[in-house]
Amino acid sequence: MSQTRLLALVGSLRAGSFNRQLAEAAAQTAPEGVQVDIFSGLGDIPFYNEDIDVPGQVPAQATALREAVTAADGLLLFVPEYNGTIPAALKNAIDWASRPYGAGSIKEKPIAVISASISQNAAKWSHGDTVKAAGIAGGSVVESAHLHFGTIGQRFADAHPREDAEALTQLAAAVRELVEVVAARVNA
Ligand SMILES: Cc1cc2nc3c(=O)[nH]c(=O)nc-3n(C[C@H](O)[C@H](O)[C@H](O)COP(=O)(O)O)c2cc1C
Repeated sequence: MSQTRLLALVGSLRAGSFNRQLAEAAAQTAPEGVQVDIFSGLGDIPFYNEDIDVPGQVPAQATALREAVTAADGLLLFVPEYNGTIPAALKNAIDWASRPYGAGSIKEKPIAVISASISQNAAKWSHGDTVKAAGIAGGSVVESAHLHFGTIGQRFADAHPREDAEALTQLAAAVRELVEVVAARVNA
């Protein structure tokens, strides 16, 4: 099989984001033949607006996102929870990737949702809302590749997730599940 490309979108924009660290750790677990890229610039994409989603006016950052999603075989969405739901930056990215209606770059893209927050709930509401939005946007959500990380403030305060053997094992399994879905589609 040729190189499988997964794209990670991280719903937290802060430099020290644990979700971003989890994305970095996931990239590290990618087996040979699988590449995980973390999209940078999510926070630079203007809010979705149908008035500017017209040929010649689509912001460059939104076009970059769409092209990156199109080029990917699957998506890893890393999502914290903000006030009980999905952070705006990630929702905005899903909205841009969902259009043109019925033909957005996210269409039929296998997607794993990985949530992480400081609470014991592990951002479960945000996880659920991300699954809902990504699915309605046209993505193909891969439940078996989902993960939930709770109490990340304590767990990863002193050590990057790449130093956490259990986290690495879980992330590797999620990447593997997503790649298997991608491979099954290629061979179908
Ligand atoms: C505006 C805001 C709202 C938050 N709301 C929640 C919440 O509803 N549930 C939760 O578990 N954590 C909440 N948190 C805490 C996040 O889980 C915590 O900041 C987490 O580390 C964010 O992920 P990051 O490390 O990737 O930035 C909130 C944080 C912020 C900044």
